[in-house]
Amino acid sequence: MSNQCSPIGVLDSGIGGFSVVKRVQSLLPWEDLIYFGDGAHIPYGNHRAETIVAMARYMFQFMEDRGVKALLVACNTISCLSDRCVDLLSCPAFDAVQAGANAVARLEVNKVGVISTVFTHNAQVYPQKILALSPRKLVVLSCGCPDLARLVEHSLGDPAGMSQVDQDLRRELDQMVRADRVDCCVLGCTHYPLVADRIHRLYPGLPLIDPAEEMARALESYLEREHRSNPQKTPGTLTIYTTGDVAEYALRAQQVGLKRVERVEFYPPMELDAISCAAAPCGSPPL
Ligand code: DGL
Repeated sequence: MSNQCSPIGVLDSGIGGFSVVKRVQSLLPWEDLIYFGDGAHIPYGNHRAETIVAMARYMFQFMEDRGVKALLVACNTISCLSDRCVDLLSCPAFDAVQAGANAVARLEVNKVGVISTVFTHNAQVYPQKILALSPRKLVVLSCGCPDLARLVEHSLGDPAGMSQVDQDLRRELDQMVRADRVDCCVLGCTHYPLVADRIHRLYPGLPLIDPAEEMARALESYLEREHRSNPQKTPGTLTIYTTGDVAEYALRAQQVGLKRVERVEFYPPMELDAISCAAAPCGSPPL
C-alpha cells in the first residue's frame, strides 16, 4: 500500500517520458520518481493493439509492485489503451492524451494539428478527446510518424542523427503546417518535446503544445487535494529502469537535463514470443 512518501511512477516505451520527468522535477522537486523505459521494444507506435497492451501491462505491474502512489503514463501510444491496463493499479493513473486534449481545450484556436506515432494517429483518440471537450467548431488534423520516435531515441546529441530528425520532421509536418496552416501543433508523442528546439527552428512561430505540462499540473492538484504530497524537505531522487541499454539511458538522462539520478538499472524485458507480436505495417489499421 502506498503512502505520502511513496514514489511516483513514470513509464514510456523509451526515453520519451524523460520530457515528462523534466516537468515533474521542476514542479514537484521533493517527489521521488521511478522511471521505466522499455528500450528493448521501442518503437511501440508501429505495433498492434494486443502487443502494446501486453507490453504496457508488464510495465504497469512493475510499477504496482513498487508501490507507486501515482502513475504517469508518459507515452501517448499506451495512453490510447490505458483503460486496458489500469485494473492492475491500486493508485490513480494520469495519461498523456487526456492531458494534451485538456491543454487544447483552454486555447483560442480553430485548427489544431496533432503529430504522433502511427498507432496514436490511427486510433484517433486525440481528435475524439479534443472535440469532446470543445464547445466550438474545431478542425483537428492528425499525422502519424512511423520513424520519428526511434530517431529521437537514438540521436540526441548526434549532429548526423539530428539532421535525419529534421528531414523526418519536414516530411511529416510540412503539409500540416505550410499547406493546411494549423494554428498550433500538439506534440502527441513524448519523444517529440525532446526535439522541440528543432521544430521551433523549422517552423518559427508555430505554437507547440506539450501535454507534459498539463500532466505535471494534474498530478500536483491530485497530490494537494488528497494530501499525498511528499513531506520530505530534501529534493527527491530519480531511479531509472530500462530493458534497453543502461549506458545509453544514463547519457540521455544527462542530455535531457534530468536531476538527481540515483541510479540506472537494467530490468529484463518481457518475452514477446508468447504473444502475437508482429509489428503492423506502418499506416495499416492497428486494431
Ligand atoms: N513516446 C511514445 C509516445 O508518446 C511512443 C514512441 C514509440 O514507442 O513509438 O507515443
